[in-house]
Amino acid sequence: MSNREDKKGIVDFLRQHMEKKTVAFHMPGHKGAAFYEEFGYGGFLAALADADITEIPGADNLFQAEDVILATMKKYERLYGAKKSYLLVNGTSGGILASILSTVPKGRKLIMARNCHKSVFNALALAHAEPVYVYPELISEYGISGAVPPDEIKRLLEQNPEAEAVILPSPNYYGICSDISAIAEAVHQAGKILIVDQAHGAHLKFFAEENTAMVKTCSHFDCTGSPAVKKAVKLPRPAEEQGADITINSIHKTLGSFTQSAVLNVNTDRIDLDALEDKLQMIESSSPSYLLMASLDMNAEIILQHGKELFARWQENLEFFYKEAEKISGLKIMRPKSSEMDSTKLNLDMSRLGLSGDMLEEALMKKGIYCELVTGNILMCMSGIGNTREDYERLLLALREVANDNNEKLFFADKRYKGKCPDFGPLEFCRIPVEKVRVKIDDAAGRICAASIIPYPPGIPIACPGERITEELAVYVKKLRERGEKVIGVTENGEITVGK
Ligand SMILES: Cc1ncc(COP(=O)(O)O)c(C=O)c1O
Repeated sequence: MSNREDKKGIVDFLRQHMEKKTVAFHMPGHKGAAFYEEFGYGGFLAALADADITEIPGADNLFQAEDVILATMKKYERLYGAKKSYLLVNGTSGGILASILSTVPKGRKLIMARNCHKSVFNALALAHAEPVYVYPELISEYGISGAVPPDEIKRLLEQNPEAEAVILPSPNYYGICSDISAIAEAVHQAGKILIVDQAHGAHLKFFAEENTAMVKTCSHFDCTGSPAVKKAVKLPRPAEEQGADITINSIHKTLGSFTQSAVLNVNTDRIDLDALEDKLQMIESSSPSYLLMASLDMNAEIILQHGKELFARWQENLEFFYKEAEKISGLKIMRPKSSEMDSTKLNLDMSRLGLSGDMLEEALMKKGIYCELVTGNILMCMSGIGNTREDYERLLLALREVANDNNEKLFFADKRYKGKCPDFGPLEFCRIPVEKVRVKIDDAAGRICAASIIPYPPGIPIACPGERITEELAVYVKKLRERGEKVIGVTENGEITVGK
């Protein structure tokens, strides 16, 4: 029997995983049942199957919300200060598709960060729109994308007056934020639309409020300005407050709703709501899950009623974590100086002890701690609203143990892990192929990419349609596949789609 046939299926896997009682520093943000039980939803969730309904009388309709769904939308408008909030049952991915389809007409241009999520590339294909790539800064020590420079956006807007909109992720997967205020100013001066993919920053709005409240009362911050405390926990402002026309938040990633649920906020009067709503109903299921929508409602209620205490708690836990982490010899925290950081993402680097991100992930997993993302030497732990002080303590304890176990390697600096992520960009952009063919990775160098090649996670394409594939890139993709990593855009037998 093959390995595949041995597996019993999803439920068995989940049962086994649940029994392990792991610590979750990965999505979703609620981190499990205890979060909901704390706020009185235990009974509701115990009978979840009974709440799995359809549009029965009184249950309203997602695509023409007038009653209970509208009430939940209003809660989000209040929470984010948005002009209009839409509940999404197909993640931020769905919100991105609808936003682009409704703002970029066929054949027109979209200025987009090259490190955008694959849903943006999918939207381009559906909209028959042309991309103009803006390259984010490179954090060369780690080979990852940093912030998107506002000056570059300004330059591309001037060069491409026929562009309709601009989209970028902020924070990105590692928590690196762009200067949205400066970007919004440039975009609006050019009369265009700014869409911010805030999939990883749904919580920023509430931290911003928490910070303001704390600074006002001086109860928690040292008002004379202790740099150590402020540096650890001061989070960037949300894009809603920095001029973005549309922001899309994966509530499920860091806050308290179920996986796949998200909220799209319209923050200005520049958006055609009819066009947006038309696209939302086009790309989302006509049977939206009441379980997902109910989870958005639970999250909204919990934040409305207990947000102050919850975000203060999260903030304290982060301060505690960063303070203790500093004492662990050999552990470095990745925090580029040039950009504002969403410090809820804990970017751990133990390469000084000879450990790559993969090795650190493995070591932590053996201790029951599951993390979100590995890139080269970085292991990113994604904290969420549901993480408890005990979770941070267990992570710290595990890191101390790993550091102790690998301590002697400190003295063999030449044996340090050197596996940086390669920097391939910018690749030569030709044009998006119409006629396509599949070729083996070995034969791909020099061909024009026709379907994005996306190592997942993080889900950021390393080659996009229209870009010429280099030898170096093809070799890297082959290596990833040999290591058993998931690379979207590469078939099971190692083929990729290129122009004919
Ligand atoms: C930057 C970015 N944008 C958008 C998405 C899609 O979000 P969702 O999973 O809510 O569809 C992701 C998913 O990981 C992401 O990393």
